[in-house]
Amino acid sequence: MFAFKRSIISLRSPLSRGLATTTEKPSLIKKFKIYRWSPDKPSEKPHLQEYQVDLNDCGPMILDAIIKIKNEQDPTLTFRRSCREGICGSCAMNIGGRNTLACLCRIDRDVKKDTKIYPLPHMFVVRDLVPDLTHFYKQYKSIQPYLQRDSIPEDGKENLQSVEDRKKLDGLYECILCACCSTSCPSYWWNQQEYLGPAVLMQAYRWLIDSRDQAGRVRREMLENSMSMYRCHTILNCTRTCPKGLNPGKAIAEVKKQLAFA
Ligand code: SF4
Ligand code: SF4
Ligand code: FES
Repeated sequence: MFAFKRSIISLRSPLSRGLATTTEKPSLIKKFKIYRWSPDKPSEKPHLQEYQVDLNDCGPMILDAIIKIKNEQDPTLTFRRSCREGICGSCAMNIGGRNTLACLCRIDRDVKKDTKIYPLPHMFVVRDLVPDLTHFYKQYKSIQPYLQRDSIPEDGKENLQSVEDRKKLDGLYECILCACCSTSCPSYWWNQQEYLGPAVLMQAYRWLIDSRDQAGRVRREMLENSMSMYRCHTILNCTRTCPKGLNPGKAIAEVKKQLAFA
């Protein structure tokens, strides 16, 4: 009965009667001010470039806006992106003063306020919104982020783990290494060469508590010095900014406990 009524309504719609419809929304122009710097123009200082985007002709996320700007206004605008759904971690940038993922960050539809977009802070810039993550990845590699064992599994095939032990990795394995947390950490800004920073330390913890891993002693020894981890002063910027809702600050506190009581 209900379906019948609906079909009557649609038959009487303005379109079916040949009347013109005015479904187009008026423009809603938003200004984006985006950090620009190019190694090809070394004499030009970094600056903010303004772009205007009609929000009624654009997807809802910041990544939608910058892709639209690149496609329609300025193909030289440079940024990283891949998955568009918060999985690859490549679109991390500083948006409206906060490190986050452009693909998970909604555009503020208040057009009276400009949105400023910078690369992740305190990193060398490759170009525009692209930070140089070489050192960050080297630090990740340094914690040996893979399973290490001296013995082979009992069945010669699989390293089994109980449901409870597997659960301990929840909230840690989901990290996508976007570097939002590390680049929001004041200790990392000032001691980046030696301090590993929250993202890498959380992964160090992830391997320390993996029941299948047998390299705990060596892993702890690597962190037992004044710089690698103890530069963390529990400021918790890292946890506040993580776009995946993880808690690297807590993970670091757990590593400190492990080192204190090991
Ligand atoms: S809790 Fe530690 S790692 Fe996190 S922001 Fe603060 S100092 Fe940095
Ligand atoms: S902990 Fe969060 S902010 Fe830090 S690297 Fe992982 S996903 Fe990104
Ligand atoms: S594009 Fe992959 S996390 Fe944003």
